[in-house]
Amino acid sequence: MEQKSWLILAIFTCLIASSCGREMHVKNKDNHAVYNHTLATILVEYASAVYMSDLTELFTWTCERCNGLTEGFEVIEIIVDIQNCLQAFVGVAKNLNAIVIAFRGTQEHSIQNWVEDLFWKQLDLNYPGMPDAMVHHGFYTAYHNTTIRPGILNSIKEAKEFYGDLDIMVTGHSMGGAMASFCALDLSVNHEAKNVQVITFGQPRIGNAAFASYYGKLVPNTIRVTNDHDIVPHLPPYYSYFPQKTYHHFPREVWLYNLGVESLVYRVEKVCDGSGEDPTCSRSVTGNSIADHLNYYGVDLMCQQWRSCRIVMDPRVSEYGKTDHKGNFILSRDPATLVLKSNMRSTEGEVTSSA
Ligand SMILES: *[C@@H]1O[C@H](CO)[C@@H](O)[C@H](O)[C@H]1NC(C)=O
Ligand SMILES: *[C@@H]1O[C@H](CO)[C@@H](O)[C@H](O)[C@H]1NC(C)=O
Repeated sequence: MEQKSWLILAIFTCLIASSCGREMHVKNKDNHAVYNHTLATILVEYASAVYMSDLTELFTWTCERCNGLTEGFEVIEIIVDIQNCLQAFVGVAKNLNAIVIAFRGTQEHSIQNWVEDLFWKQLDLNYPGMPDAMVHHGFYTAYHNTTIRPGILNSIKEAKEFYGDLDIMVTGHSMGGAMASFCALDLSVNHEAKNVQVITFGQPRIGNAAFASYYGKLVPNTIRVTNDHDIVPHLPPYYSYFPQKTYHHFPREVWLYNLGVESLVYRVEKVCDGSGEDPTCSRSVTGNSIADHLNYYGVDLMCQQWRSCRIVMDPRVSEYGKTDHKGNFILSRDPATLVLKSNMRSTEGEVTSSA
């Protein structure tokens, strides 16, 4: 599209957005994904909280990121896969009337190294049961072949037994967004979950075009938020000359960017087309920013410190915990019982591990 008409379109989008306050809802004809700004700003807080390493505060939902729009969240389970340095939680958000599942992004020593690695990820695994669908083995196994999947399936079961048939919302940032996608697909395909809703933030590509097309049909209620020049959604690279061989995002992208018109700068939230690779969205700019990767909607998405995988916990929460023979750890509670929040603190009994 021409620069000028593109500008007009973008300004028009702003006007629509501001005319209905902070809400911007756009209905799409060809699938069910409806972008809900309010919901995105709620889920991004869960995607941020799952980075916290103090399991006591996370379990009791008293961490410094455990407030605001997520207040009152009831954690049912926290899963820490020490071997692979992964973390996720499942809980019930009564204000959303939903089970929320959040996956942490990578916690390597340096985000730069992790990002550089993404350039070289191969499409090296056939997604089971979907002819021609290829994904990256590492992303797939992070969800499917670790303690994460059984932990999540079990806590969804428990939550449903206690709370009834709630909707399921899955979220995650970066690598956590990749895991969230695999989880949502698994729930939809293998566990007959209905109403699975996904919002990921700055996730990388995870499969090829055939995979993206299955995914779009099976988990239509998916929004993939990308922020301005965030580098990660550009990776692993998309090669338009090799449509069958290249990675391909699934729909539906929502691209956040700043539009400067002289001294006025608007924040635009652009709902992209149903292709997954809308050339007028994040692909219209160079992905060259790590800073844009680490903050979405003004919310920090990273651990407090880039360091080896580490968890901290009060010995009194360990009565809710189980450790398997490989040292992986699951904290869970019966939804019917309340966790006593008073006087639990993680000053003693540090559990430190490195992966
Ligand atoms: C958007 O999400 C919020 C939070 O879940 C909800 O209260 C609101 O009704 C949703 N809006 C629409 C139009 O679905
Ligand atoms: C997952 O683990 C099982 C058992 O360890 C193994 O047989 C299987 O090949 C693994 N799958 C992938 C995709 O790595």
